[in-house]
Amino acid sequence: MDWNKLKNAYQGKRVFLTGHTGFKGTWLTLILKELGAEVKGYALPPLEFNALYHQTRAENYCDSVIADIRNREKIHREIQNFKPDYLFHMAAQALVLEGYKNPVETYQTNVMGTVNVLDALRDIHKPCKAIMITTDKVYENLEREAPYKEGEALGGYDPYSNSKACCELAISAYRSSFFNAKNLREHGISLSSARSGNVIGGGDWSAFRIVPDMAKAFAKDEALLLRNPDSVRPWQHVLDPLNGYLMLGAKMNEDCLAYNLAYNFGPEQEDRLTVEELVKEGIKTWGSGEYVVSRDPNKPHEAGLLRLDISKAKKELNWKPRYSSKEAIKVTMDWYLAAHKNESPREITAAQIKSFFRIDE
Ligand SMILES: NC(=O)c1ccc[n+]([C@@H]2O[C@H](COP(=O)([O-])OP(=O)(O)OC[C@H]3O[C@@H](n4cnc5c(N)ncnc54)[C@H](O)[C@@H]3O)[C@@H](O)[C@H]2O)c1
Repeated sequence: MDWNKLKNAYQGKRVFLTGHTGFKGTWLTLILKELGAEVKGYALPPLEFNALYHQTRAENYCDSVIADIRNREKIHREIQNFKPDYLFHMAAQALVLEGYKNPVETYQTNVMGTVNVLDALRDIHKPCKAIMITTDKVYENLEREAPYKEGEALGGYDPYSNSKACCELAISAYRSSFFNAKNLREHGISLSSARSGNVIGGGDWSAFRIVPDMAKAFAKDEALLLRNPDSVRPWQHVLDPLNGYLMLGAKMNEDCLAYNLAYNFGPEQEDRLTVEELVKEGIKTWGSGEYVVSRDPNKPHEAGLLRLDISKAKKELNWKPRYSSKEAIKVTMDWYLAAHKNESPREITAAQIKSFFRIDE
């Protein structure tokens, strides 16, 4: 789907975006601004002082509500008042290691946050396309070579992954019980979920994620500590899944019933990089950098091998990744290097969005 088709779907439309202050949420806010949508964001304040949200002054491009997704009355009221045409639900406790530290809070935010959003949609009584963002980690991971398809068993070893699998179950229950296709005229809600892989891109400053760790270490001329050098992850540049979410919403707009399902968004099958290979690619772009491997036998469990089957999104949405994993890490490290050289994060981000979507000046 090209940029003009996305514009037809989103220009002048009301888009409710939870998690707009986060890494992916900020990128999506900036794309939606380019598309001419009216965006209302709902999230907690960014955690880092240098968060992409602040760096790009994204608050200028949306109506921002800073509030907790666990506050049922508040999220309900904001969704009711805004009456969105589209809703993207991204707000979450999004880190595996944080999930081990604070499992109860992780479940409360991820599961009850999702239920609060779904429940608010019951009362808007107008057509709305809701895209709920979960993750590749929702599958029962058998550490096998074969990639996972959307219909496969849900699971999730750790609290973060498992809380997201619980979100999928809640989405499915709300779809059957309250947003059933046979009553579409009454409720107006089209509901899908999007499962994407390990997302990388400029402006992610989260702790315990390999690419931000790499950018921070190289900027300080320090060696990067590699915890899981051999792990294979579905690396993607952030713009690829966001393009997928937007294309899914646009398709739901064309046909309110045909796309109310789960979709995987990830790299091509043959495109696989280990953590160590990814870091070596990062060093190439940065021009220098060192790493040391630190295998801690007592570290919490993290998936070693996880691959997604993306054939459904390719066939039904005509979506495919535009960047390979190597291109994704190059574009990402270009961003961090430019920011390190004091170029404007707002301008770097805008230029990368224009280049990805091939937007004419
Ligand atoms: N980054 C990845 O690699 C990746 C991969 C797959 C799926 N995802 C999913 O994509 C979404 C966005 O991820 P991200 O990387 O941008 O994460 P992030 O941590 O950068 O952003 C999370 C957002 O959720 C908000 N949030 C957290 N707790 C909240 C609460 N209690 N109330 C209101 N808002 C709250 C934060 O304020 C922030 O805006 C999440 O749902 C995540 O699970 C991320």
